[in-house]
Parts: sequence; structure tokens; C-alpha cells
Amino acid sequence: MKFFADTADTVAIQDLEDTGLLDGVTTNPSIIAKSGANFLERIAEISKICKGPVSAEVAATDYDTMVKEADKLASIADNIAVKVPLTEAGLKVCKGLRDNGTMVNVTLCFSAGQALLAAKAGASFISPFVGRLDDISQDGLGLIEDIVTIYDNYNFKTEVLVASVRHPMHIIDSAKIGAHVMTCPPSVIKQLYKHPLTDKGLAAFVKDWDATGQSIL
Ligand code: E4P
Repeated sequence: MKFFADTADTVAIQDLEDTGLLDGVTTNPSIIAKSGANFLERIAEISKICKGPVSAEVAATDYDTMVKEADKLASIADNIAVKVPLTEAGLKVCKGLRDNGTMVNVTLCFSAGQALLAAKAGASFISPFVGRLDDISQDGLGLIEDIVTIYDNYNFKTEVLVASVRHPMHIIDSAKIGAHVMTCPPSVIKQLYKHPLTDKGLAAFVKDWDATGQSIL
């Protein structure tokens, strides 16, 4: 499973890059607003740190403006994946960009039918939002299962990018289902390290080692 960081925080992105855990980055207008950064400059910075796909989202919702914005975003770096909303105009933009070889991440997916449309439009990634579905008592992971099954049935090349991931079980369950990618805040990736028996075991090893009075160096 590929790990994308859902953030525009370059320090956190560099930190994950240094661990070898980072396969890509996703941003959205809310994440950019929260960062307080200049959008185009920050995307350029991120795309230098992370060699994998860096998602940058169009702001417009009409076809003509989305095309212009998409072209500008795609020109920032070769590893930009232009993010478009799952609307009729968004999928039309997706088709045009894919015909020109630009990566596209179709976002705001909340149903299997929408995911089917995105795959037919040639999306590189489909982003179903599991957390936001869970928030309204709908089955986010059930949607991931449905999309993975449908894409497998027809050998679609679109990668299932699980988005709106809120906790480690979203990651583990998505991996069990076979989703290709997940994106989440770096803090959630860091939670995967944690196990009380690891902490307890390490403390015991350190104590027992100290008792030997030896030094490796
Ligand atoms: C990423 O591509 C999505 O925009 C993001 O995961 C949404 O997360 P949220 O539902 O926590 O805002």
C-alpha cells in the first residue's frame, strides 16, 4: 500500500520522506488555507521534496476555468497530480488531462457509481472519503470494498486512494481490502509505530542491558 501524506506542512513531509515512508502528498483548498502558505509556491516546494505524485486541487468549478487552472498546476512539476472534483465538468477536465498524459486525482467521491465514472474518465486516482462517510453513519470502508471489487472486475487502472483517513484502523482495514493508496495526516501514520508491548519490551531490554555494565561502542 502506498502512503500519501495529507498535508501542506513541508517539515512534516520532509520528515516522512527521510524515513522512506512517503510515496506521495495530497492537498486540498482547506489544507492550503490552514497552512497559510502561497498555494503555487508551496506546491512547488512540496513537489521538490516528494518525488511521488503531489496532488494540487483546482479551485474553480466550471469547465473552462478548471482547464486553465489545471494546466497551470500541471506546469509546476512533472509529479503533479491535478485534483478535480467528481462532477460532470470535473470528469471532462480529467479526460482531457489524461489524454495529455497528466496525472489526475478525482476527489470528493462518496459512491461506487461515482468511482465507476471516474475510472471510465481515465482517472489516475479516485479519492473516496471514508472518514466523512463514517461521520454521517455510513460505511466508509464498505465503499472502499465495493470500489476495489468493481475496479478488479474490469481491470481498471485507476488507483483507489483512500482519503479522509482519521485513524490507524482505517489504514489497516483499507490495506486488508487491497486499496492501492491511502492518504492521511502525518500524525496518523506515526500512530502506526505505537504498541504498548514495544514500549514495555524496549524498557526491559534497556534496563537489563544497563545491568550488564557493558558498552557496544
Ligand atoms: C485528500 O485528498 C482529502 O481532501 C482529505 O483526505 C480529506 O480529509 P478530511 O475529510 O479529513 O478533510
